[in-house]
Amino acid sequence: MKNILITGGAGFIGSHVVRLFVTKYPDYHIVNLDKLTYAGNLANLKDIENAPNYTFVKADICDFEKVQSVFAEYQIDGVIHLAAESHVDRSIKDPFTFARTNVMGTLTLLQAAKQYWNGNWEGKRFYHISTDEVYGALELTHPDGIEPPFSTTASSSEHHLAYGKDFFYEDTKYNPHSPYSASKASSDHFVRAFHDTYGMPTIVTNCSNNYGPYQFPEKLIPLFINNIRHGKPLPVYGKGENVRDWLYVVDHARAIDLIFHKGKVADTYNIGGFNEWKNIDLIKVIIKTVDRLLGNPEGTSDHLITYVTDRAGHDLRYAIDSTKLKNELGWEPSLQFEEGIEKTVRWYLDNQEWMDNITSGEYEKYYESMYSGR
Ligand code: NAD
Ligand code: TYD
Repeated sequence: MKNILITGGAGFIGSHVVRLFVTKYPDYHIVNLDKLTYAGNLANLKDIENAPNYTFVKADICDFEKVQSVFAEYQIDGVIHLAAESHVDRSIKDPFTFARTNVMGTLTLLQAAKQYWNGNWEGKRFYHISTDEVYGALELTHPDGIEPPFSTTASSSEHHLAYGKDFFYEDTKYNPHSPYSASKASSDHFVRAFHDTYGMPTIVTNCSNNYGPYQFPEKLIPLFINNIRHGKPLPVYGKGENVRDWLYVVDHARAIDLIFHKGKVADTYNIGGFNEWKNIDLIKVIIKTVDRLLGNPEGTSDHLITYVTDRAGHDLRYAIDSTKLKNELGWEPSLQFEEGIEKTVRWYLDNQEWMDNITSGEYEKYYESMYSGR
């Protein structure tokens, strides 16, 4: 495969995937198709934007004719599909946009790929990036007599802290709760249907919460780092008891590279960090790290914690079991959480201009004018 279409490459995870492919595979031509919504930011790719094997196309994945023309013009033989509306809170306010982009957009891409490949599946691949949120929510249960978090080796060769007995496995039944996860679940089903019905070589992966550089500051970690820097309140939903499994974004990009090249067609892989954190504990680590790196005495920003009304339908716990990926393809997270969070906080503090451009709303207008008419 030489001509790879990556959708959503100007977003958080997509920019890491584009960077990895452009630098690691000089023989590939990487076409990044992105609508540049509020979440898309070409500044995420400044370091590789002039690479000879990279092309940016500003387009909407729902625009069938445009997507068709991109397949033909660049003779696409592999797709890594990340473009999506990705924020649960926004999906609660505006579910239509999520159905449009995540469901219809994915279907549009599938149709365009099917038409362009025209039954010649040799060397082709359609890889869809999805989320663990499609599986629903897990309980905070524990083995007899042990309060969570407890140490377990049940699902991994490594010890890790778990907040419940159960995990999401590749065969866990889909049970999405939010409009975001419902739209992602629907798109996953369409991708699998294109394999089962037409024989398209598809792969789906479901990943846990990502963190790291270039994440839009509406998500917990960058939002809180930025708020601490400005002495603004840190809105903790509910009691801060919800549990998420956090993975450093570069490790997700590594997994995507591996699975795109070595994953079994029609298969599904779960990707996760075996790294569960209760929100409030994670928030305390973020506060401590930001204060230390800013040279503030410990405890300076603790008072910013502000408990607010819980998110509607807030899923209690996500926890991925990625043993299959480890056993079959040898992937494991490369970074310990302590190292990952330190790198992440440092990056946001060192790249305040990136953050300020987004939060001041300037970058969107700037790039809109730069790329209009392309
Ligand atoms: P993001 O919101 O940072 O980026 C999404 C990108 O898609 C943006 O560049 C945006 O401009 C683009 N986009 C949105 N609508 C589009 C459209 N109609 N046409 C073309 N481009 C469009 O999202 P992210 O966090 O990088 O997530 C990327 C993918 O990974 C999504 O599919 C998401 O569901 C999935 N995922 C995310 C996480 C996470 O923790 N962030 C975890 C698991 C899976
Ligand atoms: P988020 O980063 O939105 O990811 P997701 O909802 O996809 O897991 O949120 C992570 C967790 O943090 C989630 O349990 C909701 C919680 N949260 C807050 O408590 N306050 C906030 O301001 C945000 C954005 C999230």
